[in-house]
Amino acid sequence: MLMMMASSLHLKMSLCRAEDKVTVHFLNRDGKRITVKALPGESLLDVVVNNDLDIDGFGACEGTLACSTCHLIFEEAVYKKLGPITDEEMDMLDLAYGLTDTSRLGCQVCLSKDLDGMILRVPDVISDARVESEKESSAGPPKI
Ligand code: FES
Repeated sequence: MLMMMASSLHLKMSLCRAEDKVTVHFLNRDGKRITVKALPGESLLDVVVNNDLDIDGFGACEGTLACSTCHLIFEEAVYKKLGPITDEEMDMLDLAYGLTDTSRLGCQVCLSKDLDGMILRVPDVISDARVESEKESSAGPPKI
C-alpha cells in the first residue's frame, strides 16, 4: 500500500511541470536569500526538508505542532492569503520567540499558486517548546 502511495506521489510530481511550481524566497538568519521552487500542496516544512535548506533547527518536531521551530514571518499581503489558524497552531505560536502579527508555523502553511514569489523571513532566534519544557521539568519544583 505504501509503495503504491509513493509511486502515485512520484507520478504526480513528475507530471507537474516546472511552471506549475511555486517560487518561495526564504530570508535566512544570516541575511542570505534562499530561493526554491516547490509544488502546490506542500507545506513550508516539506519545502525546507525536501530541498535540504540550511535553516538551523527548523522543523524539530517534524510537523507535529510540538516545537515552534518552524516559525516564519510573512509579508502582510501574503499573510492575508493564508488559511485560518487553528487553536493548536496559535498555542504553539505563543511560545515562539520574536512573534509578530504576521507570524505562522511553516508546518501548518501549504503552498498554493497565489503564494508564488512570496518572501518569508526566518526569525533571528528560535525556541523549541520541547526543550523549554524539558528544562522546566528537570529544574525541579520552584523554590519559594
Ligand atoms: S515543526 Fe514543530 S511546530 Fe512546526
